[in-house]
Amino acid sequence: MNLIDKIKENARKNKQRIVLPESYEERTLKAADRILKDEIAEIILLGKPEDIHNQSRTLGLKYIDRATLINPQTFDKLESYADMMVDLRKSKGLTKEDAISLLKNPLYFATIMIKYGDADGEVAGADNATGDVLRPAFQYVKTLPGISVVSGAFLMFLKDPEYGDGGLMIFADCAVHPDPTDKELAEIAVATAKTTRAIARIEPRIAMLSFSTKGSASHEMVDKVVRATRIAKQIDPSLKIDGELQADAAIVASIGLKKAPGSEIAGKANVLIFPNLECGNIAYKLVQRLGHAEAVGPVLQGMAAPINDLSRGCSVEDIVDLIAITANQAIGVN
Ligand code: ACO
Repeated sequence: MNLIDKIKENARKNKQRIVLPESYEERTLKAADRILKDEIAEIILLGKPEDIHNQSRTLGLKYIDRATLINPQTFDKLESYADMMVDLRKSKGLTKEDAISLLKNPLYFATIMIKYGDADGEVAGADNATGDVLRPAFQYVKTLPGISVVSGAFLMFLKDPEYGDGGLMIFADCAVHPDPTDKELAEIAVATAKTTRAIARIEPRIAMLSFSTKGSASHEMVDKVVRATRIAKQIDPSLKIDGELQADAAIVASIGLKKAPGSEIAGKANVLIFPNLECGNIAYKLVQRLGHAEAVGPVLQGMAAPINDLSRGCSVEDIVDLIAITANQAIGVN
């Protein structure tokens, strides 16, 4: 059984309630149908029930009847949701009128359902930009204790089994936080270790990447990575982590031995932490396109509840996989 099949199997055994705010979106509705057919999760679709039924008939979908359909405009808990929002955003001056208006946006409604305990996770982004999916989550669900920053990891299934664990590597942050501080970079490493154990099911060996290995170059950007490595070890002394390392020293045994002798990570890394989002986002896309790797994600990490953002170019299969991953993250939280 491959990793994604194992993730689906685990989701099937511990059914979670996943809310999909973009029910009007064709690929999302098809993915929901597939998830319901395969009994991977319970699905909540937001929208007018008659519209959802009409579209699913047009698409020839057979299992949408198994979903819970909620019309945010007429939902009976609207007032309670709005009260909770006002309470959570008192310091920002949010009024009840503002809250009711925000709840008309299904992306806010879905996030508030999770915060209220009416859903366990959310997948969106087939039709909305990353910022629009993440902002409600940042504002209302917030981060896990001890983590101040949300980041995005990719499971990279490489063609060459020589790298990582049989060709599986985890890259982060490739999706969210443009310019992390040293402390934030350390938190990204700690959160990625958690994702690696929970979702990739392997023991993390983390390389903190830079353009320098063990002092070969000196620059404030290198210093940031060195400090981040130290802080990550302080947060979790059991972490197997080393830095700063160049990418080749991190993943090629002979180069690791030469550039960083004695390192328990150099040449053996299965987790790569990039110094900023430019590096992480560019790197994963190049490995995906030029290296023909399969990139699964981004898996958002550090959030107090699982909310995941799709690429707008995603396929039905990508959505099905991300719903199963989100359900696995929810199992870890619940
Ligand atoms: N983690 C946790 N909280 C955050 C984060 C974060 N990474 N970033 C912002 N926040 C919080 C802020 O503290 C603030 O909270 P508050 O309202 O309670 O004070 C709230 O979110 C809004 O903060 P803003 O600074 O206004 O955030 P904004 O909405 O402008 O930006 C965003 C957040 C959209 C995620 C921005 O960082 C961004 O655009 N990142 C890049 C996303 C992207 O385009 N990625 C590449 C594409 S994805 C791909 O290729 C797979």
